[in-house]
Amino acid sequence: MDILIIGSGGREYSIGLALKKDENVEKLYFAPGNGATDMLGENLAIGDFGELADFVAANGIELTIVGPEAPLVDGVVDVFKERGLTIFGPSAQAAQLEGSKIFMKNFLARHNVPTAKYIETDSIEDAYKFINSLTPPIVVKADGLCGGKGVIIAQSHDEAKIAAGDMLSGTSFGDAGTKIVVEEFLDGYELSVFAICDGRDYVILPAAQDHKRLLNDDQGPNTGGMGAYAPTPLVNEDIYSKLRSRVVEPTLKGMKAEGMPFTGVLFIGVMVVDGEPIVLEYNVRFGDPECEELMPLLKSPASELFYKAAIGEIATANIEFHDKYAVGVVMASKDYPYKSSAPAEIIIDDIVHDDIEANAHISFAGVSRGDDGKLYATGGRVLVCVGIGDSIKEAQQRAYMLVGQVHFAGKHCRTDIAYQALKLQS
Ligand code: AMP
Ligand code: GLY
Repeated sequence: MDILIIGSGGREYSIGLALKKDENVEKLYFAPGNGATDMLGENLAIGDFGELADFVAANGIELTIVGPEAPLVDGVVDVFKERGLTIFGPSAQAAQLEGSKIFMKNFLARHNVPTAKYIETDSIEDAYKFINSLTPPIVVKADGLCGGKGVIIAQSHDEAKIAAGDMLSGTSFGDAGTKIVVEEFLDGYELSVFAICDGRDYVILPAAQDHKRLLNDDQGPNTGGMGAYAPTPLVNEDIYSKLRSRVVEPTLKGMKAEGMPFTGVLFIGVMVVDGEPIVLEYNVRFGDPECEELMPLLKSPASELFYKAAIGEIATANIEFHDKYAVGVVMASKDYPYKSSAPAEIIIDDIVHDDIEANAHISFAGVSRGDDGKLYATGGRVLVCVGIGDSIKEAQQRAYMLVGQVHFAGKHCRTDIAYQALKLQS
């Protein structure tokens, strides 16, 4: 079948790579794609959902997969479904699980899914009152989509009050912050858990761990994610079982009962506190860079996973994963995450090492192809070097060997991706 992938990041590139290996897949399209996805398929410069749906119908594309949250929240799935096209992702209504933190927190409360104690409010007085009742650190979140930046972990009551005031007045996040969530700080370790859902049934993928901070040892500012690995040994069968019964199942039942069955990727940001998984947040798409590690671990045809979920038949899919580990290291541009950087040519050494050739690869993200045909780093997170191995250590070593072969002015990366897992195993 021919498949369209909506998005332009490393996440979409990695979905493309997985589909490329699948013999059921003939041609791939990306909208808009990036400077490297043209090596996997055809990039389409079509932004309008209606025009994209017309193209899909006219070209007999059997499945569309939506990567990022913005088109989901903006209703791309609804536009495609109205035209009878098969698309993987939640409706705009269901995408509120990510699009509005207040919707998400109230939904969790309605369905008794464990989450941090919170209030939602647009009143500064109520925010102050609740802040005074908590012990710092205190978490203040803007309601709407803020590109991953709308969460402040305040170290004092005063800092929390300033953050709440700045959000509510529209100073810090504009309209996205005119309503806020204030919640207790959860102290534990964080996981990224993904359930592929078809509205009723689901498949849980191996749990991953992201590294959100810019610098080693989780120091520096928050980013979109500087590297990830999967599966993580920080999860055991007890945690998976609690995630199924206390989180995924009540969520799917609740969404269905409320008239917005959830199809697509339910990304559960989990904090494990004293062995109990607690939901920090939901996203309605794959994590980036987590997707870049999960896709190469998929043993079953990728098209089966996405297609069966999209048509409501995930229960009939037999989804298997390789008994291996993947570690992905993000290489970022000079001024990431502070500001954009000047384009820098990417030079990749000829890879002569058979072991690296066979067990490591690049997922390209913030790259553009110049008129000279060369690849340039033009985004914040430029690419992800992914290593696969029989152990996390082996996968990590392969990822970093590949990092050593990639050059562009100003490149930087963390050198400790997967450190929590390695510490646990040592
Ligand atoms: P969110 O956008 O809600 O995932 O928040 C971004 C990041 O802030 C999360 O990945 C966590 O690292 C952190 N965070 C959010 N909420 C809490 C909380 N209640 N307690 C501790 N850390 C949190
Ligand atoms: N890596 C975390 C995210 O995609 O939100």
